[in-house]
Amino acid sequence: MLVESLRDIGYSLHTAVSDVIDNSLTAGARKIELHAETHAEVPAIGILDDGIGMTEPELLEAMRPGSRNPLESRTTTDLGRFGLGLKTASFSQCRRLTVVTRRNGVTSGAVWDLDTVAARDRWIVELPDDFTKIPWAERLATDGTLVVWQKLDRLVGPNGQGSRQDLVRLLDETAGHVEFVFHRFLSGVKGREGRVCISLNGRSLEPFDPFHSHHPATQHHQEETFALTGRNIRIQPVTLPHHDKVSKDEWTRYGGPEGYVKNQGFYLYRNRRLIVHGTWFGLARQLELTKLCRVRIDMPSSLDAEWKIDVKKAWAQPPPPVRERLRRIIDRIGVPSKRTYTVRGSRLAGDSRLPVWTRSQDKNRISYMLNTEHPLFSAFEHRLDPETADEFRKLVALIVSTLPVEALYADVSASAESVEPAALASEDFKEIVEATWGVLRERGLSVDDVENHMRSADPFRSRWKDVTRLFQAMAAERQGES
Ligand SMILES: Nc1ncnc2c1ncn2[C@@H]1O[C@H](COP(=O)(O)OP(=O)(O)OP(=O)(O)O)[C@@H](O)[C@H]1O
Ligand SMILES: [Mg+2]
Repeated sequence: MLVESLRDIGYSLHTAVSDVIDNSLTAGARKIELHAETHAEVPAIGILDDGIGMTEPELLEAMRPGSRNPLESRTTTDLGRFGLGLKTASFSQCRRLTVVTRRNGVTSGAVWDLDTVAARDRWIVELPDDFTKIPWAERLATDGTLVVWQKLDRLVGPNGQGSRQDLVRLLDETAGHVEFVFHRFLSGVKGREGRVCISLNGRSLEPFDPFHSHHPATQHHQEETFALTGRNIRIQPVTLPHHDKVSKDEWTRYGGPEGYVKNQGFYLYRNRRLIVHGTWFGLARQLELTKLCRVRIDMPSSLDAEWKIDVKKAWAQPPPPVRERLRRIIDRIGVPSKRTYTVRGSRLAGDSRLPVWTRSQDKNRISYMLNTEHPLFSAFEHRLDPETADEFRKLVALIVSTLPVEALYADVSASAESVEPAALASEDFKEIVEATWGVLRERGLSVDDVENHMRSADPFRSRWKDVTRLFQAMAAERQGES
């Protein structure tokens, strides 16, 4: 039986719910309520909208698998394509689908129960005349549609996948998914104008914008428009804020469950609904270095065929001319995200006049050395007798030669933001500040020069407030002495 085979095309709860929401949005809904009864005797899920609803013939037509021709052109606000979504999405999750719909106050309803269909071996539609027993039916307005899933055999129950607890968790994931793929509907076109409200069991869902668009440290690069057979594709590369520009919570939130590295790449929107995210479509690798790059692509549904949109609206492939264009964009924007990190990288050893570490690079070797010219090192070495000085040099050489490059690399690639040098104890820090000051002054540098030197070098630069406090204390002490 066709429907039984359509059950297994790989929907999950969240893609199935999204497919039904697509229909509500296409029907012009402004308010969509997701309801889930997880602990009642008969668990059920309902999706209610205030869209234009259907007449009874329309409802019966809508329930026919393949009710629409995929080649038919659709309006720019229509999120459908195949005339399948409602059926395939619903029966991927349940065995009993009820649709109650109202147009101009006239209510129609229909029930498809796979058990009845199997028992009678016929595609039977039941038309209830009493809607009061259908959960959430009383919430329908003058126009709108309610889709109810019961017999959630794929989700709960003795032969099902999991417990009711699992269902609660899946619903949570679904809420997150909806906040993500429909974020542009949830936030409206400009500000809150044209906003769609979606709730789950009464809790409003909030848009999750993967571009962190309103953060001042987000970099929006040049947008490009590209016409394919006369229809426009818009491409907007964005570099997300570096981790020291956002709070820890924001950093985690925008990284997403899979983290920044896996979530870099293209974000493809079809009629403003997110279809694919976090992939370079095989055009680049997901590197640590480019993990802050996300590129928004907007395509109209009129290009579905060219992009090979799938029934679940969860995958697409850029057609060849677009691939070429995307490749060039990748080359171009590889740079900004790289720069965000290399600027910080170069500070490690580059611009400082008092480096503790130096970086040297010849043709194919890069090495990091301790700078033995550093005033604190050289002053210390001078105070040692020749034998101890020799031991000291060997000790330094040992430390440098065992720098754990691979472990550092692995950690930094996994999560750069959590790798930090061990902090100096404040007493040690104080002594180092004082000693550096002393050595540089002895070398004849002016107070201003000493400050400028120190300000450019770690460990002072990153704790410059502490340093100035120590300078003040030192100055006060010197005044006390004189
Ligand atoms: N919530 C709704 N409000 C009004 N009409 C609806 C609603 N849901 C479905 N329909 C009608 O039912 C038809 C079939 O829906 P279905 O999701 O099966 O296919 P589709 O949206 O046309 O294409 P796709 O397979 O790409 O989703 C729709 O084209 C629409 O006319
Ligand atoms: Mg649909």
